[in-house]
Amino acid sequence: MSFLTTRGVPRRDLEEILDLAEEFTEVLSRPIPKVPALQGKLVANLFFENSTRTRLSFERATRALSADVMSFSAGGSSLSKGESLKDTAQTIEALGADLMVVRHKATGAPWRIAGWVECPVVNAGDGAHQHPTQAVLDCLTLRQRFGSLDGLRVAIVGDIRHSRVARSNVFAFTTLGARVILVAPKTLQPVSSAGWPADTADDLDAVLGEVDVVYLLRIQAERGGMSVFPSLPEYVSRYGLTPERFARLSPEGVVLHPGPMNRGVEISDTVAAHPRALILDQVANGVAIRMAVLFALLGGKG
Ligand code: CP
Repeated sequence: MSFLTTRGVPRRDLEEILDLAEEFTEVLSRPIPKVPALQGKLVANLFFENSTRTRLSFERATRALSADVMSFSAGGSSLSKGESLKDTAQTIEALGADLMVVRHKATGAPWRIAGWVECPVVNAGDGAHQHPTQAVLDCLTLRQRFGSLDGLRVAIVGDIRHSRVARSNVFAFTTLGARVILVAPKTLQPVSSAGWPADTADDLDAVLGEVDVVYLLRIQAERGGMSVFPSLPEYVSRYGLTPERFARLSPEGVVLHPGPMNRGVEISDTVAAHPRALILDQVANGVAIRMAVLFALLGGKG
């Protein structure tokens, strides 16, 4: 079994991953933060696109489960000699990989690889399509803060059109009972949000007082996000989470961001440093969630 998308994943499966991640959070707090659950297994990280958080947290999660990790980067590989994606994936499986973690700029690449190899594949982000482990780590962060996502009101704000995080989170959040509103200028809304279980709005100021969570997204310049609004200062003036806007959240309201942040654009330095900005909690939860996913897919013991 692979983990490629949050769309269609039942609530009980998401909750099982969250419960397992809570157990691994306890493991990670021990003086020796390691268990032998996946001893002898080999996890291959295939990153065809850059990453800091996802790649390093999968590495940390793999080692914390006592599995071995093998890392592939597109730069420096035989892709430059014309090797295909299929041959690359099958080569890595022949080297002994028991599971592949795949990030690729092309939508659907992890699905293609899952069709070519026998081992499970985890989607670590494909184009503007899906980033399921990001979504579940965000669910864990909100569940830890609020006890449950049931009834939580979440605004996802920014470049939704080009965001795989938005496409994963909207399904995970709503499956767990949250209500989602997508806030962006019309040119950064999805071309069609038919099938998205969310409302849409283009006025952040009108929404701030109505939500418990502001989930900020950066503008995905690498996918053309900068070219669809008049100017960056105008975007910041309407959608940047400044201290003044932050002050209009409820006293319990929190801010999430998947990273990397573009400080001074979607989020100010002051807001990013606020105790109700849970951005580093999200990063830390990424390790426990990825341990839970690896454990579940590789049939870990104990
Ligand atoms: N949130 C996230 O996917 O960050 P990276 O691109 O650094 O992995």
